[in-house]
Amino acid sequence: MGPVSDTSTETPAAPWWRDAVIYQVYPRSFADADGDGLGDLPGITARLPHLAGLGVDAVWLSPVYPSLQKDAGYDVADYRGIEPVFGTLADFEALSARAHELGLRVVMDLVPNHTSADHVWFRQALAAAPGSPERARYVFRDGRGEDGVLPPNSWRSVFGGSAWTRVAEPDGTPGQWYLHLFDSSQPDLDWSNPEVHEEFADVLRFWLDRGVDGFRVDVAHGLIKAEGLPDWDHDQALLNGSTASGERPPMWDQEGVHEIYREWRRVLDSYEGERILVAEAWVTPPERLARYVRGDEMHQAFNFDYLRAPWRAGELKQVVDATLQAHEVVGAPATWVLSNHDVVRHASRLGYPAGDEPASGVGPDDPQPDAELGLRRARAATVFMLALPGGAYVYQGEELGLPEVTTLPAEVRQDPAFARTGGEDRGRDGCRVPIPWEGDAPSYGFGPGAASWLPQPPEWARLSVAAQTGVAGSTLELYRGALALRREHALGRGELEWDAELTGGDVLAFRTRGVLVVLNLSDAPVAPPAGARPLLVSGEVVEGWVPIYPAGG
Ligand code: GLC
Repeated sequence: MGPVSDTSTETPAAPWWRDAVIYQVYPRSFADADGDGLGDLPGITARLPHLAGLGVDAVWLSPVYPSLQKDAGYDVADYRGIEPVFGTLADFEALSARAHELGLRVVMDLVPNHTSADHVWFRQALAAAPGSPERARYVFRDGRGEDGVLPPNSWRSVFGGSAWTRVAEPDGTPGQWYLHLFDSSQPDLDWSNPEVHEEFADVLRFWLDRGVDGFRVDVAHGLIKAEGLPDWDHDQALLNGSTASGERPPMWDQEGVHEIYREWRRVLDSYEGERILVAEAWVTPPERLARYVRGDEMHQAFNFDYLRAPWRAGELKQVVDATLQAHEVVGAPATWVLSNHDVVRHASRLGYPAGDEPASGVGPDDPQPDAELGLRRARAATVFMLALPGGAYVYQGEELGLPEVTTLPAEVRQDPAFARTGGEDRGRDGCRVPIPWEGDAPSYGFGPGAASWLPQPPEWARLSVAAQTGVAGSTLELYRGALALRREHALGRGELEWDAELTGGDVLAFRTRGVLVVLNLSDAPVAPPAGARPLLVSGEVVEGWVPIYPAGG
């Protein structure tokens, strides 16, 4: 990145979220204050200064609600409480107050597609009769075939196996089936039922009243299912909004979801401040995604096309252009993301040949990534991403250049996808390993205990926050530098203009707010234009280009 002209022009105030960098905290793995090996809210609160120092605008917390933790908290048993393992409502309030004091907004995770099987509604549904109002909150159906022994339709669970489980009726006889697009411990709610709408509007108010700044909406494209639940025989390998032929599956991206978000937007707009809704919607193409962020719906949507783009200049450029165009039509900011708790960390994903990047987990016997190449590309990808117009997401640990842990043995893996597929799907544990904070402390400073719920590899000692702080060239200082430049030049509010001279072959270059950003995907150095002053370089120092790091020179 380097400036090519003066950027001192004033930018008019725009809502904070239009160019925010939102940092995802995965509570199980961020920081463990009580030493039980699992992260918690007091642990997060104590480490918030790290995030303020990094230069992000907001924190998104993956679910911290009461939960049996069958899917790491995405199985919610009570939407108005805090899981005791993570702390109390008072701990949450302390976290939120401290975050606000540090200038960080707080975004909660909301899981409306399904509850936990441990939720009082589901327990009531099991105890009630077929056709009862208790069952009508979920998707219960009679089975097919003789005595209903076959599932009601052919849908598969995203985590493997059938999307249906048969229950025993209260009198002990084999009974109806209930739908679960995910694990059997996550029954899908029936969003055609007004009671479900009322409940969630009230849950939103519960947290808005406690000052939260927004919600990341889990599986936002899944709440409404096509009328009659028609068969769909395709695999659900990944949450996928459409098939290659463009056919839309009956469980994803149905028209009815938009009415729900309009309803929620009205609830948010009745509150002071700028509270936001963010869609986790795995839909393509970008025009379909942009429908979630129309003026009266959500504020942002995750751009998974960008995350999934192979490391090729042409495809990256195409995704950037298509994203910007589609969002412009609806007047919403684009967002950019490279890692989260569901995908292979980008420092490892990009260590595979372009086009062969693994979609989900990697096991010890699978082809392993080229770690050095992956990190080099990841650093470049991040600097490029943080200069793009719109909002951006950073997943905890990526600022340390953490790789995917690919060597976890089967017995420690906890993702239900691993168990439901007999290990064929390696699952997502490899991107969820607890963060190293201090090199030589037990569990590298994750907590006072020696153990963590997933084991940390010994080589993480040198990747800890302490080991990288103030070290010129470290990934942590690269992130700090990129975030500082992004803020200084208001890059998130810029307009991207491709540099026709530099862009071509394996090179992408764009100008925004007087800054030139060059992404070199080739093996050869690229000469910067004469007179350009380098601000930040992610990789090797080439002649005339000196990386500038704010700390440690
Ligand atoms: C989302 C979450 C994922 C979870 C799933 C079911 O995709 O990000 O972690 O397993 O929804 O709630």
